[in-house]
Amino acid sequence: MTPAVDVHRYPDAAELAGALSQALAKQLQAALLARGRASLVVSGGSTPALLFRHLRQVPLAWERVSITLADERWVDAGNPASNENMVRRELLRDAAACATFLPLKNSAASAQAGAVAAWAPIAPLCPFDVVILGMGDDGHTASLFPGSPGLAAAMDAQAQPGCVAMTAPVEPRERLSLNLAALLNVRHLYVHFTGEAKWLLWQVAGDLPMGLTLRRSTSRPQLYWSP
Ligand code: 6PG
Repeated sequence: MTPAVDVHRYPDAAELAGALSQALAKQLQAALLARGRASLVVSGGSTPALLFRHLRQVPLAWERVSITLADERWVDAGNPASNENMVRRELLRDAAACATFLPLKNSAASAQAGAVAAWAPIAPLCPFDVVILGMGDDGHTASLFPGSPGLAAAMDAQAQPGCVAMTAPVEPRERLSLNLAALLNVRHLYVHFTGEAKWLLWQVAGDLPMGLTLRRSTSRPQLYWSP
């Protein structure tokens, strides 16, 4: 059963990116007015790039906005596969150049070794104002992959919020992800994907990490998608 989610469908990826960037800007502005600061957790992969190109143009007090990642491939920031690389290239420019970015990748030899240090500067941002999640073709979200060792613990909504080392089925396989307890410690949860195939997967994702995440969300998720 698809959980109670508000679904926003747009005819194409460009209109989707424009509409979602305006919705996110409204939430960030409300947070800035209410608390003087705002926190934004973004996903990596390829879908967010067009959204980021719209969002970075929005006039906000970006100097009071903290941005971090829902997950990271455990590769250096110069690696094209790095989510940090994509965020620095596509989001931390123009109006958003002065936002504070907190990366997940650090100098630890492994994601497992780097998890505690990665989480330490992010913890004070909770509850996050906005979290934007993508969805993979296997129903994963962030780096919460079906079949990954440690997935059950990472999906425990009652666990201590934090970062967890996970294993992806594709390279780069070593990942660091916010666990479910961290991802759901949020005021406004968004899901963002494109393509009919993901829309069809969405209908049956109930027992996959994406569906379980939504079912355990205490805030009403907002899905933004286009064919
Ligand atoms: C990552 C992302 C991941 C992403 C999905 C969808 O590191 O890859 O955080 O969770 O959201 O894999 O990726 P696409 O947008 O490339 O389809």
